[in-house]
Amino acid sequence: MSFDLSVFSNKNIILAVTGGIAAYKSAILVRRLKDYGFNVRVVMTHGAQAFITPLTFQALSGNPVHTELLDPEAEAGMGHIELARWADLVLVAPASCDTIAKFAAGLADDLLSTLYLATKAPVWVAPAMNQQMWAAKPTQRNLNTLVEDGVHVIMPEAGSQACGDVGLGRMPEPEDLAEQVKNYFHQAQRAIAEKFGLLAGKRVVITAGPTREAIDPVRYISNHSTGKMGFAIAAACYSAGAKVTLLAGPVSLDTPNGVRRINVSSAIKMLDESMHQLEEGCDVFIATAAVADYRVAEVAEHKIKKAGDELNVSLVKNPDIVATIAQQSKRPFMVGFAAETRNVEEYAAGKLVAKKLDMIACNDVSRADIGFASDQNAMTVFFAEQYQMEKRDLEKASKQEIAQQLVEAIHDALNHKIEPV
Ligand code: C5P
Repeated sequence: MSFDLSVFSNKNIILAVTGGIAAYKSAILVRRLKDYGFNVRVVMTHGAQAFITPLTFQALSGNPVHTELLDPEAEAGMGHIELARWADLVLVAPASCDTIAKFAAGLADDLLSTLYLATKAPVWVAPAMNQQMWAAKPTQRNLNTLVEDGVHVIMPEAGSQACGDVGLGRMPEPEDLAEQVKNYFHQAQRAIAEKFGLLAGKRVVITAGPTREAIDPVRYISNHSTGKMGFAIAAACYSAGAKVTLLAGPVSLDTPNGVRRINVSSAIKMLDESMHQLEEGCDVFIATAAVADYRVAEVAEHKIKKAGDELNVSLVKNPDIVATIAQQSKRPFMVGFAAETRNVEEYAAGKLVAKKLDMIACNDVSRADIGFASDQNAMTVFFAEQYQMEKRDLEKASKQEIAQQLVEAIHDALNHKIEPV
């Protein structure tokens, strides 16, 4: 399975393992949670250690395992209060009768019961026990208390048990549990997006317009880009809840509402400012600028005088801004654009790979009705292979509507939602 690990890389799960034969399944559960990109720390009760060793979980989670409440070494590193604060979710799997009873009674005589009281994170328990113990009145009473206290109880499954009985009490398979955790965080992200916009809280940097490469103090090399697409995307990102910085080449467009605009002229200046923005923090970088591929090797200090029938100006290659940003170690989600006059899709897909982008939107500028100076556009969007997302055709529409569809595509890729249009 290939999955974009960055999606959940800022989510912290405490997997608490208690005494029960299902503890062996928890080792696989750590693997599956790690596959989804979660940071996992394991807490074990003494009972759990009779079934499986901390070393197993240490190796699988890549983090030290926490077993003691009053362990001077652990308290110096990450004690129970830090652990409680670190967690975005506490998943107790398997949850024994004893742990459930402790939670219900509010005891605090070991690490896990103390952690339960100290955390603000949601707590999920996946009870696993003999069917008679599950059905026992005190167990059911305690579980009701936990539900009343806001704990999410993952129902055990029915089937044959390690003790030879048949009935309710088996812990769900690790794959199912990991998927439930993943779905929970997906839904939480979706709820935030619905309330605050698709790019809520994201910092977006957009390059737009042409660059201007000076020949002498009065002349320059440039191109026909008007910056309309980049400005429309800036407006759409702002409406979607993002903090937007627009690095604009020389264009005569009004700054969209709520957008921070920084005017730049040459490709070198645009790159410098892009690097600076990266240092300030950037989640998504969208390169719509039509950056001049070459600049004048030596800009004349004074206006070049008319002389002779020919004038030779030597050009050197400009840096590729989007490719340079994509090479940085803490790179944002990278979106490129490709304007082509032939073999549009082939060239665009090639650029996606060559420039190490996450997504590329391409259009056919040979069509008179769309592209550069037009108010309309039509595009095809490609995603990097690891997203396993279908390409999307954005039908001819206003640049504002296309910008909105691009925001949706970025949001879907960021959340790794596989939903071809
Ligand atoms: O290679 P090409 O210019 O067709 O690639 C287009 C994409 O690369 C656009 O996203 C454009 O903004 C970006 N680009 C860049 N720096 C360059 C040239 C292109 O960021 N020097």
